[in-house]
Amino acid sequence: METSTHAELFKLLDISPEDAAECAALLASPPDADVVLAMDAMQGRLGSFPLRSITAEDASEATWIEALLRFAPLVHAHHVGLGIDVDISAASLADVGLQMRINRRVHGRFGLDTWSWLTLHMAGNLFRLGRLQFHLVPDDRHASGWVLGVHIPEDGGLSPAMVDDSFAEAKAFFAHHFPGKPVTVATCDSWMLDPYLAERLPNSNIAAFARRFTLDRCTDAASDAVYFTFRQRGMQDLAKLPRNTSLQRVVLERIDDGGTWQLGHGHLAL
Ligand SMILES: CC(C)(COP(=O)(O)OP(=O)(O)OC[C@H]1O[C@@H](n2cnc3c(N)ncnc32)[C@H](O)[C@@H]1OP(=O)(O)O)[C@@H](O)C(=O)NCCC(=O)NCCS
Repeated sequence: METSTHAELFKLLDISPEDAAECAALLASPPDADVVLAMDAMQGRLGSFPLRSITAEDASEATWIEALLRFAPLVHAHHVGLGIDVDISAASLADVGLQMRINRRVHGRFGLDTWSWLTLHMAGNLFRLGRLQFHLVPDDRHASGWVLGVHIPEDGGLSPAMVDDSFAEAKAFFAHHFPGKPVTVATCDSWMLDPYLAERLPNSNIAAFARRFTLDRCTDAASDAVYFTFRQRGMQDLAKLPRNTSLQRVVLERIDDGGTWQLGHGHLAL
């Protein structure tokens, strides 16, 4: 399948050469009715600051991959229309290609089992600014009525200096581009905020990141730590997983001891 036709799109989304041919195949014929419906759903949210991603029980992954590929240029145009730097827009949309590469590690094939997560980006209010991603959403619990949800993309280490820079960039970015939606608080919901991690790996970057946040509560999320550490869906065959890094050992030893990994929900003042 010819991939050069889509070179610009694949560059925007950071689609790797490995995934390019299958993406091009999806774009080779006009979109079917399901793809059009998926694109309509994204169009209805573009510019509207939705909190939740699109979910669908019986959705076909291929339908959503094609819809995301076709819709992303409209999100890019939306960003540009807001005066957002093309490189920031591209860095934000590049999560599409990253998630495809992760999908290959998880499932050993082309796909996008995280397509639903990417529908957030397609609403136009989630940006990668330096090391972190920031999602501008309404939140009545905070005085200004708005909050930044923080996400941590996989992209090498998470040094405190990079995190500092990223938060500083976010403060300036949102104040400049969304002055009517002032944010003073950022929130994070992540396995990385499980206090067990900071106890067991106190000198790690993950612990330093978690300590920035005030922990509001924890909820059970048994398989999150396994997914993000090993890129395995589900809790099967844990004995076969490697124990090379301290994180790998901590994740598995807690489960061996009968513990349950948590999702920590925290906030910090920007
Ligand atoms: C978050 C992340 C960037 C942290 O990476 P980091 O800065 O290298 O992490 P730390 O310095 O705190 O690592 C401490 C130890 O854990 C190991 N480690 C960190 N992340 C790891 C991973 N994903 N898989 C295996 N080991 C990992 C490090 O190698 C180090 O091991 P060592 O003590 O044996 O040398 C990384 O874990 C990652 O990319 N995770 C996936 C994305 C994610 O979880 N996002 C949050 C979703 S809610």
